[in-house]
Amino acid sequence: MRKCQAAISRAPQDSASLWGIIHIVAIREVVQYPAEVLTRPCRKIGAGKLAEMRELIADMMETMQQAGGVGLAAPQVGVSLRVIVAYRIEREEVLSSVTAPAPPRLRAYLNPRITRGEGEELDEEGCLSFGKLVGLIPRYTKIWLRYQDDELKEHSEVLEGLDARIVQHEVDHLNGILISDRTTVPLYEREEEKEESQVAATGSDADTA
Ligand code: NI
Repeated sequence: MRKCQAAISRAPQDSASLWGIIHIVAIREVVQYPAEVLTRPCRKIGAGKLAEMRELIADMMETMQQAGGVGLAAPQVGVSLRVIVAYRIEREEVLSSVTAPAPPRLRAYLNPRITRGEGEELDEEGCLSFGKLVGLIPRYTKIWLRYQDDELKEHSEVLEGLDARIVQHEVDHLNGILISDRTTVPLYEREEEKEESQVAATGSDADTA
């Protein structure tokens, strides 16, 4: 079930070994509900496994994009560790310098913690581990997030709107909490899903995580 493609993931000077230059990005299988790994709280990531983490992150990003999602948590590829990947959808705040590089739209967050939330909004939400099922899930409209990057450097970020929703969904995964636990109505199949299967297949499905 693993499709592989070669990708340059690191600058050659990072390592003399071939595996340091070329990481084979693997599209991993997305674990489906009710697999036990989805309901188990994940372990915190320490300094020992950062090279493995970078490979996992690259695979998760590829897997998420292939599946047409906007976020993915490690337990969804069967790994019970606290790492998520997510798209930034909302407009970025204006950068202080026009020459500063724009931050990547696809982000990885290690050991993410939501330290504060504000506002509440009920909206339809899907999950790559639930096929076409969606629920109506209340989420904060603005969150304060602390996380580590792939060198375990500490960062903080304020996220709003869909970005905040995606990260809350993915952090829930790290705690073994699923849309079936949060939904205010029984999960249902999204009405337009059948007509939009073509759209979903091309990755435009905006709220499946
Ligand atoms: Ni999900």
